[in-house]
Amino acid sequence: SKVKYRYPQKRSTLKYKLFTISYQQSAAMSTLLINQSKYAWLKELGLSEDNDGVYNGNWGGKGELLDTVSFVQATMAEYEETVQKSRDAWKVWADIPAPKRGEIVRQIGDALRKKIKVLGSLVSLEMGKIYVEGVGEVQEYVDVCDYAVGLSRMIGGPVLPSERPGHALIEMWNPVGLVGIITAFNFPVAVYGWNNAIALICGNVCLWKGAPTTPLTSVAVTKIVAEVLEQNNLPGAICSMTCGGADIGTAMSKDERVDLVSFTGSTHVGKMVAMLVQERFGRNLLELGGNNAIIVFEDADLNLVVPSAVFASVGTAGQRCTTTRRLMLHGSIHDVVVERVAKAYKQVRIGDPWDRNTMYGPLHTKQAVDQYLAAIEQAKQQGGTVVCGGKVMDRPGNYVEPTIITGLAHDAPIVHTETFVPILYVLKFQTEEEAFAWNNEVKQGLSSSIFTKDMGRVFRWLGPKGSDCGIVNVNIPTSGAEIGGAFGGEKHTGGGRESGSDSWKQYMRRSTCTINYSKDLPLAQGIKFE
Ligand code: UN1
Repeated sequence: SKVKYRYPQKRSTLKYKLFTISYQQSAAMSTLLINQSKYAWLKELGLSEDNDGVYNGNWGGKGELLDTVSFVQATMAEYEETVQKSRDAWKVWADIPAPKRGEIVRQIGDALRKKIKVLGSLVSLEMGKIYVEGVGEVQEYVDVCDYAVGLSRMIGGPVLPSERPGHALIEMWNPVGLVGIITAFNFPVAVYGWNNAIALICGNVCLWKGAPTTPLTSVAVTKIVAEVLEQNNLPGAICSMTCGGADIGTAMSKDERVDLVSFTGSTHVGKMVAMLVQERFGRNLLELGGNNAIIVFEDADLNLVVPSAVFASVGTAGQRCTTTRRLMLHGSIHDVVVERVAKAYKQVRIGDPWDRNTMYGPLHTKQAVDQYLAAIEQAKQQGGTVVCGGKVMDRPGNYVEPTIITGLAHDAPIVHTETFVPILYVLKFQTEEEAFAWNNEVKQGLSSSIFTKDMGRVFRWLGPKGSDCGIVNVNIPTSGAEIGGAFGGEKHTGGGRESGSDSWKQYMRRSTCTINYSKDLPLAQGIKFE
């Protein structure tokens, strides 16, 4: 088989060596984790001393060796080969009836169920989130597989009334073809899962580039999926993977053969992807930044507010796109809520994310620690007071104290900036109009919550003058969405919707089909052309 070299061969696919994980040990450690008895379970995920970062039916990886994890990235030549193989695989996959595709997705869900704990452990080890959250995001993939199985017998368009006699007006939905999926470090399993399960039942093939810092999770997930495809004698390239960095992401964005680019990550990178994709009139699906607020009114049940604020701001160490970054408190309850939330912060058990008792682990990278410190400095300069946290912790790894800052103006520049760390800005408001306006005045539009018992206010919040976000909650936190709803947001969040509801439409193209079954040729709008 011929391989076309469309892109210059540069450094690329990571071949992962299971070496050491930055938050836990120093890079100087010479023994591979996988050879230590404590980490022997990594073998259950099909990982070994050397790990290939390319899958397209065959495993490969000829590019740069990431010796931190002993992992080999994809080269541009491998990217090229993989795209070709994926497109060939589509010819097979698109012919399989949707409910049969659903059956394959059902098997993927079952295969994930069997590995849920061990895969959740790897997420915890590699990403740094706590074990239950690691398992939780594999659960999201399992759930969306179940959801997609049902969808595989439900998707389709209406038959519409035609104005012409003897004519049928039918809406058909067909797969777009090849879906490129670029995911972020913070949800290295779930976000791929939402895209993968839905894209598959729609009749698409997938090409995945996970975050460069969570390659082993990408490999382990792909091994599970590949086994299901191979057992069913289907081409493995239905679910391909090319691990790599910006070069692979850029290639996918520019590549006309990638029919849809689904990107999850920062607004900054998302914009670059969007421009490249738009330039070729390709399709994109963007899940970008958030700057999510919880608004607490005077009548709120504070027993719900306090754990909600803590979960949504401290959970995943503030590294969810749905993390609560702004806590808006009505003037009458401001002080008491700050006091109770700060007290709860002090009870958060900080430790090794792997320890089952831990609630709060390290940040993913050293860079995030720098961003944390810089944000606190700016907040102070802009008039904020640190009431809790504010310091890097004196222990190995990227640990920072979960932080609460009060006294800032609602429109202080730092309050309008999404810093992907556990810093919560508390704002004091007086009226509903003011609070709703502050919620909406940021560039991002992902998630939002109010706490109230006032039903009128609830419906104003859901209505045209209420929250402008994609996720609009009442009496629950901003994070922790279920897979059954459409996930995503407006404005600088990118506008895409993934997972539930009718998000499947983003992975398909619609055709309006008019069929004349009469012997006449009546024209629409009653036009006579004779
Ligand atoms: C993300 O942070 O990228 O709603 C996704 C939540 C999760 C998904 C977050 N279900 O918090």
